[in-house]
Amino acid sequence: MEEKYVLAEIADGIAQVTVNRPTSLNALNAEVLAELECVFYELEQDQSVQVVIVTGAGEKAFVAGADIKEMAEMTAYQAHQFGLKGQRLMLFIERMSKPVIAAVNGYALGGGLELALACDFIYASENAKVGFPEVTLGIMPGFGGTQNLARLIGPARAKELVYSGRMISAEKALAWGVVNEVCSQAELGARVLELAREVAKRSPLGVGYAKNAIVNGLNMGKEDGFRYEASLFGVLFATEDQKEGMTAFVEKRKAAFLGK
Ligand code: CAA
Repeated sequence: MEEKYVLAEIADGIAQVTVNRPTSLNALNAEVLAELECVFYELEQDQSVQVVIVTGAGEKAFVAGADIKEMAEMTAYQAHQFGLKGQRLMLFIERMSKPVIAAVNGYALGGGLELALACDFIYASENAKVGFPEVTLGIMPGFGGTQNLARLIGPARAKELVYSGRMISAEKALAWGVVNEVCSQAELGARVLELAREVAKRSPLGVGYAKNAIVNGLNMGKEDGFRYEASLFGVLFATEDQKEGMTAFVEKRKAAFLGK
C-alpha cells in the first residue's frame, strides 16, 4: 500500500513513523488511521525492526486529535465504528512485540494524546501541549484515552484533564507522569534516537517479552502477573539470545543478539 499521510523510514533497526498531514495539524481521519494500521502491521512483521518511533510532521503538532471536520457529520453508528477503528490501532501498538516511543513535538490532543499513550512512553518537546479537548466539542475521548490515562496517572488527575478539556504544558505533563522526558524541540529527535539506539542493542526477545509482561500484567492481579512473568522468564532460557548474552558476559565481550 502506498501511504499518503504516513511516512515510514527504517535504518539500523529503528523505524521512524511520521504522521504527515501538517496542514490539518496531523489530525487523524479514517484514511490516516487505516494507513497507520498498515504501517504498524508491517513493522511488527519486519524482523529487522527493533524499535519504532512515532512523531508528527512539522513543528506545531504531534497530532491535534481525530479529524473534527470528518467527525462533524457522523451518525452515532459511524462514530461507534470510527471509535472502534481508532481503538484497534491503539491496542495493536500497545501489544506490538517491540517498543514504540512517541516523540511528541507539539500539540498532542484528543486522539493525538491517545496515540501517544498507546506507545510505550512519551518524550516531549518544551513547546508540546497535551490534553483531551473532547468535552469542548460535546463528546468524550474515544480511542482508549479514558482507560489509558487513568491507568497511567491515576483517576483523579485523568478526570481533571478530561472533565476540564484543559491543555497542560510539557513540564506539567512531566510532573504528572504523562511523559518521561522533556527537552527542546531541536533536541527531541536526537534524544529519542539516542534511547532507541540503546534499546536496539539489547536482546529483542528480552525487550519484547518484558513489554509483554508489563502490558499484559497490568490487566492481571499481582499473583497472576508474577506467574505470567515467571513463564516468560523461563521461555527466554530456550533462546539463543540468552545463551549469547550470558556467554558474552562470561567471556567479557559485548553480546551480539540475533533475536532468536
Ligand atoms: N481536526 C481537523 N482539523 C484540525 C484539527 C482536528 N482535530 N486540529 C486542527 N485542525 C486544522 C484546523 O481546522 C486548521 O485548518 P484550516 O487551516 O483549514 O482552518 C489547521 O488544522 C490549523 O489549525 P488552527 O488554525 O486551528 O491552528 P491554531 O494554532 O490556531 O490552533 C489548536 C491549534 C489549538 C491545536 C487548534 O487547531 C485546535 O483546537 N484543534 C482541535 C483540537 C481538538 O479539539 N482535538 C480533539 C479532537 S476530538 C478527538 O480526538 C476524539 C477522540 O478522542 C477520538
